Amino acid sequence: MSTPPAEETRFLHAIEMGLGTWAWGDRILWNYGRGYSDEDIRAAFEVATQEGIRFIDTAEVYGQGKSERMVGKLIRESGQAILIATKFMPFPWRLSRKSLLRALRHSLERLGMERVDLYQIHWPFPPVPIETWMDALAEAVAAGLTRTVGVSNYNQTQMMRAYSALARHDIPLASNQVKYSLLDRKIEKNGLLARCKELGVRLIAYSPLEMGLLTGKYTPENPPPGLRGRRYAGILANIQPLLRLMTEIGQDLGGKSPAQIALNWVICKGALPIPGAKNARQAAQNAGALGWRLSEDQVAALDEMSDRVTQPS
Ligand SMILES: NC(=O)c1ccc[n+]([C@@H]2O[C@H](COP(=O)([O-])OP(=O)(O)OC[C@H]3O[C@@H](n4cnc5c(N)ncnc54)[C@H](OP(=O)(O)O)[C@@H]3O)[C@@H](O)[C@H]2O)c1
Repeated sequence: MSTPPAEETRFLHAIEMGLGTWAWGDRILWNYGRGYSDEDIRAAFEVATQEGIRFIDTAEVYGQGKSERMVGKLIRESGQAILIATKFMPFPWRLSRKSLLRALRHSLERLGMERVDLYQIHWPFPPVPIETWMDALAEAVAAGLTRTVGVSNYNQTQMMRAYSALARHDIPLASNQVKYSLLDRKIEKNGLLARCKELGVRLIAYSPLEMGLLTGKYTPENPPPGLRGRRYAGILANIQPLLRLMTEIGQDLGGKSPAQIALNWVICKGALPIPGAKNARQAAQNAGALGWRLSEDQVAALDEMSDRVTQPS
């Protein structure tokens, strides 16, 4: 049984896909400045918005504030109405509700905006109880600093605590942003995705391309650079049968790329993917995941192959 989303969060359920901006300004994992520049990022933004993407996800910690600055500048200069989501990091030294309000005001300064559309708690880190952060989010809504509020990386128990704490303020939990891709289907199997649908909470899927792996461009001989290479070295050989199936299905659909298959699969599952893009080519290709749907049989075949390659016997 699904609950219809609360009126103030309905806009999120109408969005099919967004744009992730972790890589905009991040040198540590994504090598910003080497291989892609501010001009590439501007082009990615322009292509994505031309192709109808109207929702951008950022965070105060991405590029230590640089991502928010870039997103804000690009949106302001474009003059377009783009929905914006950012996040609060509950660092262990942030102990009071006021610290969230302060952090949100700093995010708004970097974005050059008076209000965001979605403000999310980035991780359910201790020591501050979930209820305290929900009280702070309620204050942020009351102060007009954000239109809706959400969480990220919350498991079902944590999400239910957040949901109930917000309900005491008569505020709906708009979203839970978690990792979800053809290579990581934990949330399907542990019931989080179903619970979100039941409650009318939008599930926002991060790393829907598994940080580039599901584009098919990385192989055991050509792993992703840096930290990503180390993280994924062990699985690149295992996932090749899945990538071959994605390529075949893409060909049957008239030339869709593996990235487009990966993103469309997330949409078919009822989640909102926010793929990252570093340049115009990536943004254009990812936007090509919109406007069509995999068949039920194709989704089932992908599910089966995903199980096979992620749980090798
Ligand atoms: N809430 C959280 O804790 C959390 C955590 C992670 C991410 N996120 C959000 O989710 C967004 C997306 O996740 P993600 O950036 O980790 O991973 P992703 O979307 O799975 O992968 C993005 C990366 O894949 C490559 N790529 C993207 N499109 C491509 C294409 N069409 N062809 C070839 N390569 C392509 C690019 O990197 P290369 O070119 O270098 O391969 C790009 O940076 C983030 O930007 C962020 O907004 C949130």
